Amino acid sequence: MRVAMASDHGGYLLKEELKTALANWGFQTVDVGCNSLESVDYVDYAEQAVAAVLNGECERAILICGTGIGMSIAANKFPGIRAALCHDYFSAQATREHNDSNVLCLGARVIGPGLAESIVKVWLNTGFSGGRHQRRLDKINAIEKRLLSK
Ligand code: RB5
Repeated sequence: MRVAMASDHGGYLLKEELKTALANWGFQTVDVGCNSLESVDYVDYAEQAVAAVLNGECERAILICGTGIGMSIAANKFPGIRAALCHDYFSAQATREHNDSNVLCLGARVIGPGLAESIVKVWLNTGFSGGRHQRRLDKINAIEKRLLSK
């Protein structure tokens, strides 16, 4: 699986650590930046990573800022993106099973690298359960469609 990785300055160091972890687990990564601790705007990097998912270059994306909140707000503006901000193992597993989330957001100032790694690992390796959860996603998609046609 190919995974787009993005961060702002607040998430840069965690992104670098997670890139190594993903490579060790056999995932390919596409790093869209940022590339240093210099202050940048998270939304610019969220947009690039989400574009890689929407154009099919990557199956999923992982977005990291200080809190993960700015990244998740920005990513969820894009139709077809289901971004989940997760700081615990249970939510990371459940959002794959229930929401088929295609973007994971993390706050590097909220959790440490050890927990971040276990969250990312379970998120990457858990499948969507379908069934009643697909019905709910269909309703979300219908809302997106209605709003876009206005
Ligand atoms: C940057 O200082 C910080 O605002 C950003 O990383 C993020 O936490 C925003 O949601």
